[in-house]
Amino acid sequence: LSLIRPYLSDEFGNPSSKTNSLGIRAREAIEKAREQLGCFLGAEPEEVIFTSGGTEANFSALVGVFRAQREKRHLILSAVEHPAVSETAKFLREMCGVEYTQISVDCSGQLNLDQLNRAIRPDTAVLSVMLANNETGVLSPLREIVEFAHTRKLLVHTDAVQAIGKVPLDFHELGVDLLSLSAHKFGGVKGAGALFVRTGTAWEGVVKGGGQESGRRGGTESVPLIAALGEAARIRKQQMSEGLLEHVRSIRDFFEQALVERIPQCRINGTSSPRTPNTSSVLIEDTLAQDVISLLNQQGIILSAGSACKTASPEPSHVLRAMGLTTVDCLSTVRFSFGAEHTRETVLHVLDILCQTVAYLRAESSQQILANSR
Ligand SMILES: Cc1ncc(COP(=O)(O)O)c(C=O)c1O
Repeated sequence: LSLIRPYLSDEFGNPSSKTNSLGIRAREAIEKAREQLGCFLGAEPEEVIFTSGGTEANFSALVGVFRAQREKRHLILSAVEHPAVSETAKFLREMCGVEYTQISVDCSGQLNLDQLNRAIRPDTAVLSVMLANNETGVLSPLREIVEFAHTRKLLVHTDAVQAIGKVPLDFHELGVDLLSLSAHKFGGVKGAGALFVRTGTAWEGVVKGGGQESGRRGGTESVPLIAALGEAARIRKQQMSEGLLEHVRSIRDFFEQALVERIPQCRINGTSSPRTPNTSSVLIEDTLAQDVISLLNQQGIILSAGSACKTASPEPSHVLRAMGLTTVDCLSTVRFSFGAEHTRETVLHVLDILCQTVAYLRAESSQQILANSR
């Protein structure tokens, strides 16, 4: 907060104003953030384009590829992408006549590579595969996917929103051509994000305007949010070098082990794949996710059903469905997230309340079944 405050008051310069000291300082803040983010994720500063968040970065990544390669008419994406990608595919189809193919995943959440191979067409421009799934934490073996896709002359975009700050990541080592991220997933402020475009990629910006971000994303930059994003990157890099991820993983694993021991008919989704250390997608049979969430919320424990962005939606999660879960199992799945602040004590406290809640809900539903059968 102390970092942002000056940019909300005295330091109100416009980074595009090169002739006054306020503008120059605002520009310096943005360029510092660009360096910090690039340094965190192994990208050159000029490969970093600031956006309003992960959604815009995904949209801009995919639409920008077709803007630069007008002869290409086909996009491939996985069946478990966030709506920020899948809705962009629909947009491209409706507005630009671009066709798309969705590739299924197996029960562990991994892309079907045979299907991917068969889906590639001479006019396929880009493959979009998320690095970490937002509902299950399942990680894609992206380096292998990129190697394969590049032999078939496809660009690769990854929605890395859920992976940044949760797994060690180097943009160049990963090999993808485009990568999207969102600031608030690793300690920044909501409303900021970035798109990385590897130098030389056939891509053109789609938000046109005053030429900001080297003509690749028009619009006056949000200096406070971008400065905070840079600082969040710096801090997260340091925390990761001090064992943050190992801590979070040990807490999550402790939770999962104790959970399956203490609550019968309960299982964790996606465990046969590598996962981000912070996420646990838990299927608790004979309960409704909405009920579990609301009762835990009353006790001050915040969790979500599948993805937070879709909590208002009554439909079962498309991610869990794609992994082969039944509708009932999807509706019985909740997602726990863990962070630096959690300890074994927090986990034991949550488990005590969860055990009571599940016992209560199961007894209630049994009563209901008995009442209905009378
Ligand atoms: C995987 C994934 N992609 C994209 C987004 C959208 O990011 P933003 O809310 O910054 O637009 C989210 C949001 O949670 C997400 O989980």
